[in-house]
Amino acid sequence: DEATPRTGKRVLLAKPRGYCAGVDRAVQTVQEALKLYGAPIYVRKQIVHNKHVVQTLEAQGAIFVEENEEVPAGATVIFSAHGVAPEVYEQAKARSLKAIDATCPLVTKVHHEAKRFAAEDYDILLIGHEGHEEVIGTSGEAPEHIQLVDGPDAADQITVRDPNKVVWLSQTTLSVDETLETVARLKKRLPMLQSPPSDDICYATSNRQHVVKQIAPDCDVVIVVGSRNSSNSVRLVEVALDAGARAGHLIDFAHEIDDAWLAGARTVGVTSGASVPEDLVQDVLAYLAARGFGDVEEITTANERLTFSLPQELKRDMRAAA
Ligand code: F3S
Repeated sequence: DEATPRTGKRVLLAKPRGYCAGVDRAVQTVQEALKLYGAPIYVRKQIVHNKHVVQTLEAQGAIFVEENEEVPAGATVIFSAHGVAPEVYEQAKARSLKAIDATCPLVTKVHHEAKRFAAEDYDILLIGHEGHEEVIGTSGEAPEHIQLVDGPDAADQITVRDPNKVVWLSQTTLSVDETLETVARLKKRLPMLQSPPSDDICYATSNRQHVVKQIAPDCDVVIVVGSRNSSNSVRLVEVALDAGARAGHLIDFAHEIDDAWLAGARTVGVTSGASVPEDLVQDVLAYLAARGFGDVEEITTANERLTFSLPQELKRDMRAAA
């Protein structure tokens, strides 16, 4: 850019970054439901793990609750992108709630795998982070067959009924490299361990990690836009640091940037988690430009084109109303 004064300072902007197809669909589901049925619309758990998205939808008339019991009988409830255990559907039915399922189809795929292997009486080792909503939902499909493996060290404690009938599955938003390490540790003890029929870590998670790995070695600091409870965003900071970034920080908003992070820096990496709207990244770029980092080079390692259609139950009502 001719207009940008050459300061020797630059930004490497990762692409792909930000919204994945599952988040886009989940956010649209809430917005379309608000349009179609009117406010309030209840959403069980944060629709996606991003503060700004949740605040924006709240302002539009969404009410976020932790459990179905908080939803008035007969009202509409949307289940978040992270997926829910089967008992959550049953509770909704018992309270006569109109349930709309915004679970990402790539999470649903893992649920199907869990059900299938459980039906064949496998021991299932689910690699994931304890307490994460996605793991709670997936485990709920077959609690008596699934054990959680939270990282490589946890692999050494696993015991199974039959070492010839074990499969591993995973949360969709893990570190690709750490998961490989966990699997290698599991295989040392369980050589017959089977792998999932297709990758459980989703395309968006692996693409965002792949590009941040490319830029990290050149960066004095990598700024990841994302919320603390967003698994894939937190992983991006870890991956950047492992790949050689000298520093890495997770922020929700541009104003959280500490100017001390930029002192002496020449190259700043910028990326965002899969639940982060692009506006927030643009705010960060504007903030950086005001501090001499106006020279932005976008590094692209993949072009994503995947989109998911809205939940069937919502589409049906949209058609009926048209
Ligand atoms: Fe789905 Fe992956 Fe996004 S599982 S919600 S596409 S981060």
